[in-house]
Amino acid sequence: MAKTALITGILGQDGPYLAKLLLEKGYKVYGLIRRYSNPSFDNLDYVGVTKDVNFAEGDLTDESSLINVIKNVRPDEVYNLAAQSFVGSSWEQAKLTTEVNATGVLYLLNALKYFSPTAKFYQASTSEMFGLSNDDGYQGETTQFHPRSPYGVSKVYAYWMTVNFRESYNMFTANGILFNHESPIRGIQFVTRKITDGVAQIKLGLKDELRLGNLDSSRDWGFAGDYVEAMYLMLQQETPDDYVVATGETHTVRQFVEAAFKSAGIDDWEKYVKIDPRFQRPAEVPHLRGKVDKAKNKLGWEPKVSFEGLVDMMVKADIERYEKKIAQK
Ligand code: NAP
Ligand code: GDD
Repeated sequence: MAKTALITGILGQDGPYLAKLLLEKGYKVYGLIRRYSNPSFDNLDYVGVTKDVNFAEGDLTDESSLINVIKNVRPDEVYNLAAQSFVGSSWEQAKLTTEVNATGVLYLLNALKYFSPTAKFYQASTSEMFGLSNDDGYQGETTQFHPRSPYGVSKVYAYWMTVNFRESYNMFTANGILFNHESPIRGIQFVTRKITDGVAQIKLGLKDELRLGNLDSSRDWGFAGDYVEAMYLMLQQETPDDYVVATGETHTVRQFVEAAFKSAGIDDWEKYVKIDPRFQRPAEVPHLRGKVDKAKNKLGWEPKVSFEGLVDMMVKADIERYEKKIAQK
């Protein structure tokens, strides 16, 4: 019989890529969605799976809605991707960030414990939990956590709750500690998409500047389509565990900017980029680079898309979007 998966955060970036992967593997896929006045299915449309997903209404901050969904869906696997995921907003909305990203995970784990205790559970943990820490320039499964934002702090709670349900109740719960991953359907606030969207508009003469914050921080950027495979693999193992998922390479925001302008055929990027303090953070995570040996050795997972390939994919997709809009006018 086909397995059933429940994906929270189905309308975000990772949800659609994961839904597509699971549908291709023959799963029945349910996506948790909140009540919207004007819902957007654009990201699911982009990967072409909107009509194949079943939707269940619920919110991570509403425990009874999660209990209802778990009772009705009885999933074999739950992928908890829902979050207030923008680090920048987490200082302004620290309580909301905590309620969704921390307490919400406790609600979901409790719903599973009572109504679907054999379901396997994936928690979207993050390299933001490492914050200031690294071991010889890398962050791996044993690197100490030192989160630098309310977002990072909320995710540390969820990480340990996920471990605790495994240790307390023998449930199959796994943390994927994913480093930054991007795609043409990345949210527009995140720096990569903000850059590729800005570059596309500059290329087509729709704007003449791109305002950014700290260009010196470095991130280990991969492609979201590759990373959802690691999520799936974690839930196919004999025993539950926690894994870092990354490329093992790191690049500064400045290097991303240079590569994006290059992809669009623009050499003099400094002419267009303006530093704007509004986009700097109260506390920065200066350097992220994942040590990915465990995922490679135990899951047999490898990233396929390179840094240059990722930047080029995103720039081309944004140029195409604006060209279509211009043609429709
Ligand atoms: P995303 O694009 O921001 O998507 C997050 C999704 O969560 C959205 O669909 C959002 O719904 C939903 N959501 C927010 N609050 C909710 C609530 N109260 N109840 C139910 N759903 C709610 O994030 P992503 O990039 O796909 O990332 C997926 C997960 O991985 C997140 O947990 C993120 O923190 C984590 N993560 C991401 C990265 C990365 O680089 N992308 C790296 C490590 C970890 P709306 O559509 O209504 O806003
Ligand atoms: N968003 C944004 N906007 N970031 C900027 C800007 C800007 O104008 N200018 C510079 N940056 C810098 C940020 O200060 C940060 O150092 C870096 O670009 C990346 O910022 P984001 O793209 O917003 O991502 P993030 O690294 O803070 O968080 C993302 O990755 C985490 C995993 O490490 C999010 O996807 C999180 O949800 C995820 O957990």
